[in-house]
Amino acid sequence: MIKKCLFPAAGYGTRFLPATKATPKEMLPILTKPLIQYGVEEAVQADIHTMAIITGRGKRAIEDHFDISYELEHQIKGGSKETLLTEIRSLITQCTFSYTRQVEMKGLGHAILTGETLIGDEPFAVLLADDLCNHEGDSVLKQMISVYNKYQCSVVAIEEVPLEETNKYGVIAGNLVDGTDDTYRVTDMVEKPDPKDAPTNMAIIGRYILTPDIFDILRETKPGKGGEIQITDALLEQAKQGNVIAYKFKGKRFDCGSVDGFVEATNYFYGKM
Ligand code: G1P
Repeated sequence: MIKKCLFPAAGYGTRFLPATKATPKEMLPILTKPLIQYGVEEAVQADIHTMAIITGRGKRAIEDHFDISYELEHQIKGGSKETLLTEIRSLITQCTFSYTRQVEMKGLGHAILTGETLIGDEPFAVLLADDLCNHEGDSVLKQMISVYNKYQCSVVAIEEVPLEETNKYGVIAGNLVDGTDDTYRVTDMVEKPDPKDAPTNMAIIGRYILTPDIFDILRETKPGKGGEIQITDALLEQAKQGNVIAYKFKGKRFDCGSVDGFVEATNYFYGKM
């Protein structure tokens, strides 16, 4: 059973300055909903109700968002705008939210290790809110949990990207398993390789299911690409034991960490309204 989802949300969001000067990037809205709310909804669709959020300085708006605002509730009670709060109210009642701060920015692997105190000794999901995923059927996390249930090891979501973009992602190599056309046993993974060094064009997107031994591995993981502790490097240790599956998810994914992806997502969701 995967019961908890970790949301690394301590990053500065420098690509969206000045919007992210005083507002967490996870709170930037696609239409009327902040990115992190889409992420929490995806987790709930996967029957996860315990959200563990890694925050940092200047991120208090996230905590306030997943809480009741009595003054606001009082103001709009009985009026036509009240329905606009229905979805977020329902999330607040269904889920618990716990927070811990990443005091120093030492990379995604370090952020995940900071979450150990909220996760404990059980397998868990990781969701990077700036990769916004949409699928009419099972959410991407739900698809990944089915894969986890079958293979009982760490799972990363992958997508094919143009070869010239491999330097933006963790990239995997692997072999298809059990006659599937979407599930690979990972043999190699590299963080943000130059296209000439990339083993394939299969890129990791911001969805992971991790087994808890990852915490011990992360404690031993030396800084890698960019001088940061990389989850990709820690996962490679599991992959060497045959314990990482890469899954080509069904659905659409928008890179809302970039202005282009953000606009694309906005247009896509506006078109669906
Ligand atoms: C992180 C990971 C990278 C992964 C990406 C997905 O990079 O380090 O392996 O492919 O998320 O979005 P970031 O985008 O935080 O630089």
